[in-house]
Amino acid sequence: MSRLVVVSNRVSVPKGRGAAGAQGGLAVALGSALRESRGVWFGWSGEETDHFTGDMNMQRNDGVTTATIDLEPQDVEEYYNGYANRTLWPLFHSRIDLAEYKTDFGRGYERVNERFAETLFPLTEVDDLIWVHDYHLFPLGERLRRRGAKNRIGFFLHIPWPPRNLFVSLPYHERLVRTVLEYDLIGFQDEESLENFELYCQKELGLEIGEDHCLDYEGRHVCLRAFPIGIDFDEFMEGGKSKQAKEAERRIRESSRGRSVIIGVDRLDYSKGLPERFDAVGRFFDTYPERVTKTLYVQIAPPSRQDVVSYQRIRETLEQKAGQINGAQSEVDLVPIRYVNRGYARRELFGFYRASRIGLVTPLRDGMNLVAKEYVAAQDPEDPGVLVLSQFAGAASQLPSALIVNPHSEESICEALVQAQDMPLEERKQRWSELMESVRANDVEFWRKSFVEALVGDAAQPKG
Ligand code: ADP
Ligand code: F6P
Repeated sequence: MSRLVVVSNRVSVPKGRGAAGAQGGLAVALGSALRESRGVWFGWSGEETDHFTGDMNMQRNDGVTTATIDLEPQDVEEYYNGYANRTLWPLFHSRIDLAEYKTDFGRGYERVNERFAETLFPLTEVDDLIWVHDYHLFPLGERLRRRGAKNRIGFFLHIPWPPRNLFVSLPYHERLVRTVLEYDLIGFQDEESLENFELYCQKELGLEIGEDHCLDYEGRHVCLRAFPIGIDFDEFMEGGKSKQAKEAERRIRESSRGRSVIIGVDRLDYSKGLPERFDAVGRFFDTYPERVTKTLYVQIAPPSRQDVVSYQRIRETLEQKAGQINGAQSEVDLVPIRYVNRGYARRELFGFYRASRIGLVTPLRDGMNLVAKEYVAAQDPEDPGVLVLSQFAGAASQLPSALIVNPHSEESICEALVQAQDMPLEERKQRWSELMESVRANDVEFWRKSFVEALVGDAAQPKG
């Protein structure tokens, strides 16, 4: 069996499975996937250095070897804060109004991808399978090939691939896609992203793609597929039995004093639809004043990417909105919204989810959204809660038994909240068992296996 070398911008050096933090779905999923194989995980340490040396910090933890490098402050500014999070992230989440196209960002992005390639290449062995993750590292495969890598190299995109008419606004869009086509296997979260990418290749590059979603590109056979990511089901359920999970559940149940709890758990990111969600909850309280004393909305939102202005703004906006709604709706002994800017251990999240009648997940765009799946997994089978889910999350196509809403419509969210609060036990159980089946079957292990098998399997196919 070949060794798996995983590469991503962020590497989560394990601090123990219960560790708190706002790592995001990628780190959570990869940590789980790597524990299953004797893999190496390579990426940025999250630290800065005055001069890039390429020195690696290697650690072995929990069966996973991590190898990380430090980057220079200019790299972090142009590559991570810049091209990744001020250009690609907004564009790929259809927020073209926030996307900034700056030459320095593009240069920094190329430079850091080159630095990754330069450091990673000597670490690889000829029969390693290399699996590159996410929008920070589109050009890495091409950079490795230039250095002579003949390995099977796969790429998985954790965020949506945007529609063609938006994507073409990116300067040098063609160059970016041509670098992506240097991978042997390109994975997307869902069929929509796959279609968007294929349509671009066909219309803009004139490429022919077969019914098997493969194409011949510059003498190589490249395959495109959707591999919806999942949660580490077994680990998450195991954590749910812990003291920490039970204590967290008790905290919410006791302090909510019989109110019906709505929970949201998201990184503080404009793609998560938080201002729109707050407005909808405000409208719900205005429209149904009799429900104010019977409802508690808990929103957990740890800060993310705080060096980027759009992320600072959203934080201010939410503080204002939470303050306004609480100001208007609170009593001396009752506050309807608890807005918390910190991370929690995943076991605690399990307890919070379990104590909540409604899981409110309303991103405006999301590659998948693992929180939706975690909420489902944490429910009590005898008295499960209801998942309210945005139609624009990748998870929506996998979880059609949720109450699917339009996150831009306050009415749509309000109606779903009422329906969820009033839903009879039998219907809750029915919907939940359908959701649970999908969450269990499509877990992170299935995702990893499907991707790796396709990466290996496609190698067996004759070229051209
Ligand atoms: P994204 O990758 O965009 O952040 P996902 O919903 O796919 O979104 O993944 C988020 C992951 O981060 C989930 O596994 C979730 O449990 C975790 N997470 C989100 N918020 C917190 C928090 N406050 N504390 C701890 N973990 C969190
Ligand atoms: O899952 C999408 C993603 O962008 C990951 O690539 C990333 O690690 C995560 O969200 C959290 O973002 P960041 O690494 O910028 O804190």
